[in-house]
Amino acid sequence: MEEMNRRDFLKTLGVGAAALGVGSMVSSKALGAVSKKIDIGVCKSVRIKCISETGWWSNPLLLSDIKQAGKGNLRKGLGVSQWEIDWNRNNCAGSCSLIDVETLDGKHHKFLVDTGWDPKWMDKRFKEEKVDEMLMYKDIEFLYVTHEHLDHFWGLETTLLYNPKIKIIIPTTFYPEAFHFLRGAKFLYPKAKNLIPHRGELIRTEPGKIYKLFPGCASIAFDFPIIVRIRGEQSLFFNVKDKGMVLVTGCGHQSLITLADFVQKNVVGGGSMYGVYGGLHLAPFGPIIPKRAHIITEMGKFNFKKVACNHCTGLPAVQKMVELGYPVVRGTARYGSISDLYVGNGDEVVFG
Ligand SMILES: [Fe+2]
Ligand SMILES: [Fe+2]
Repeated sequence: MEEMNRRDFLKTLGVGAAALGVGSMVSSKALGAVSKKIDIGVCKSVRIKCISETGWWSNPLLLSDIKQAGKGNLRKGLGVSQWEIDWNRNNCAGSCSLIDVETLDGKHHKFLVDTGWDPKWMDKRFKEEKVDEMLMYKDIEFLYVTHEHLDHFWGLETTLLYNPKIKIIIPTTFYPEAFHFLRGAKFLYPKAKNLIPHRGELIRTEPGKIYKLFPGCASIAFDFPIIVRIRGEQSLFFNVKDKGMVLVTGCGHQSLITLADFVQKNVVGGGSMYGVYGGLHLAPFGPIIPKRAHIITEMGKFNFKKVACNHCTGLPAVQKMVELGYPVVRGTARYGSISDLYVGNGDEVVFG
């Protein structure tokens, strides 16, 4: 193990336990540098309600906006900042899930993973699932933002409308525009608006460090460049008693394999994988991305018992998983989700 020096160790204790407030940080200096496995404890169950997995409505429209930003070149457009793209106002929806963790003492911890894109769409979905009331009555403890992408973050105003003081957890890799957005800002060109300044605690997680949120629930951020010029994504993992690990992603840009390998190598109980939930960025714009196709076959080695992927996983990728005999959790194709092959808007999955 690469030893932490004393300064880093003290910094770790200070930043982690105090600033996070919802738990503690147990940490390595860098990804892959842990030799002693971290014990995050166990929880009883994890219930996940998909509030919205539809990031946007039309792939051709989204791709045409990106291509236009690249002056007719899609590849170039993918390198342009999301804050500098003229997004089609009618194409936005968003990704957001509600997690309810039950710890062994019977306590429940509810929190949101991401906050969608279009504030109007998010408000509709919040009302349909009573998330608005849960936020107002402080039943939802915090908002965990996996990454800066518009479809996960730009619907922030709706969450803040019902609780402007909610605790928010983001990775340190956010760009300055994102911090302006949190403080209240309107970006005319990309049509991103949050007029309600965040007044609660803001926790920034450092890539490569494991943050324990509750017993059996932790977070890890990865630092790397992502399309439409953002950086870094954080993911959650849960150790469900007598079942195994559940991995939860926003888009899974870092790849499910990277996350599963990390948890397997560095976390006590990581050898036994139980489930996965969230976007896996395999076929986000239609066909499976050729250089990510191997992820689908490779995930077989983890022997997941429940595969509840949606959002940017993409229908062709889910169909491939079904073909391979993976235990894919089905949904009901309601509220705008296009297929009942996966956990869609308004659907729920329980691990435990
Ligand atoms: Fe996404
Ligand atoms: Fe994303």
